Amino acid sequence: MDKASKRRDPIHPIRALMVGAGLVALFWSMPSSGAERTTPTAPPEFLALKNPVPVTPEALGDAALLYKKKCKKCHGADGKGRGSATKGMKIKPRDYTDGKLMSTLVDGQLVWIILNGSDRETTEMEGFNGKITDAEAWNLVHYIRSFAHNRNNQEEGVR
Ligand code: HEC
Repeated sequence: MDKASKRRDPIHPIRALMVGAGLVALFWSMPSSGAERTTPTAPPEFLALKNPVPVTPEALGDAALLYKKKCKKCHGADGKGRGSATKGMKIKPRDYTDGKLMSTLVDGQLVWIILNGSDRETTEMEGFNGKITDAEAWNLVHYIRSFAHNRNNQEEGVR
């Protein structure tokens, strides 16, 4: 009896730790209030891509028209992600005027989400593969980035 309980004792703290870690992992993975972002990461071959489309006034003009038609209702005319269709959304699009945020998202990641969509269980960001051309998707990447550039330019202009 004595022997057995002594042998078991040192196991207890370890087991407690393991259960604790399991619980922590469970809570981390649970979408609390359903607003956890689960944006998928593009495959490495996409992440390595640089935007192959040159930025021209024409390209940006075309992208602006396309954005107005297909993206504005969610991403907003100002790119802040508060378009008219986002009212009931738990996960809203991010603020593309935020230069710091945008610097964390590489071209290949942005174009991949545009073409393939985000997590369709938690967001309404569908993929536009087949609905727009690859060149149009890359143009949209330039356009999306211009929201942050514009703001910086404006801020510089104000000072
Ligand atoms: C029905 C609403 C809706 C429409 C329409 C829509 N989006 Fe989105 N989009 C979202 C939401 C919500 C997210 C955030 C998803 C996430 O966090 O992964 C998102 C994410 C993105 C991202 C990923 C950036 C990031 O935050 O990681 C890009 C790029 C993007 N959208 C571009 C576009 C473009 C370009 C269009 C138009 C061709 C478009 N979206 C149309 C709702 C929309």
